[in-house]
Amino acid sequence: MEVIAVKDDQEMSEKAASLIGAEIKDRPGIVLGLATGGTPEGTYREWINQAGSLPLSQLQTFNLDEYAGLSPDHPNSYHRYMKERLFQPLQLRPGQTHLPRGDAKDLQEEARRYEKQIQQSGGIDLQLLGIGENGHIGFNEPGSSFHSRTHVVELKPSTREANARFFESEEDVPHQAVTMGIATIMESRRILLLASGSRKKEALTALLEGKQTENFPASVLQNHPYVTIIADESALSGV
Ligand code: GLP
Repeated sequence: MEVIAVKDDQEMSEKAASLIGAEIKDRPGIVLGLATGGTPEGTYREWINQAGSLPLSQLQTFNLDEYAGLSPDHPNSYHRYMKERLFQPLQLRPGQTHLPRGDAKDLQEEARRYEKQIQQSGGIDLQLLGIGENGHIGFNEPGSSFHSRTHVVELKPSTREANARFFESEEDVPHQAVTMGIATIMESRRILLLASGSRKKEALTALLEGKQTENFPASVLQNHPYVTIIADESALSGV
């Protein structure tokens, strides 16, 4: 795993956006895996800033996850997050962007459909990842199988608590989500993991120095051949 140490969230976002931009220029038909949460917000802002120079009409995107029960236009859905922060500003066509439907009648079936759609696109070329304080990637919580494909998960109380800041109250945070599986994520050709702030210190230390275990899902990345981590001083302060 290559680690690029930067000063702060802003520098992390600039570096991440240039790396994504370079990949898009290299391969305009690229399939990108995208993440949500607080971490990639700056990256999306910087990406929009440089969008004028990028060929965007052929790329495809697949998001990692979506909350169960939320329709695409729900203010807290990841559909809405992506539409507002990236897809609309970049003027991507609806057919270019993909997320699992959290409001599907049969969520298990939706998970299978989404996994198949990823495979049919030829797989993810570059997957952007954040990291949960408990080591989750996507919504693959501690204990998730390293062999998992896109599936329905029960969110841990600590994850619901960490994400409550995006909702009116913690009770509003859904208890379930659909997430790409760990095996799905591991098949990406390249992975770009971002971490900033002291809240991520323990998780990043465990990722870089800890042992590989399903109790810390991000540790699976130690086996991936092409991982780039961009992290700021505070996140790296335990290493
Ligand atoms: C969320 C998302 C993840 C994200 C992680 C960290 O629950 N499902 O994709 O990477 O938790 O979130 P944040 O960047 O807000 O710290």
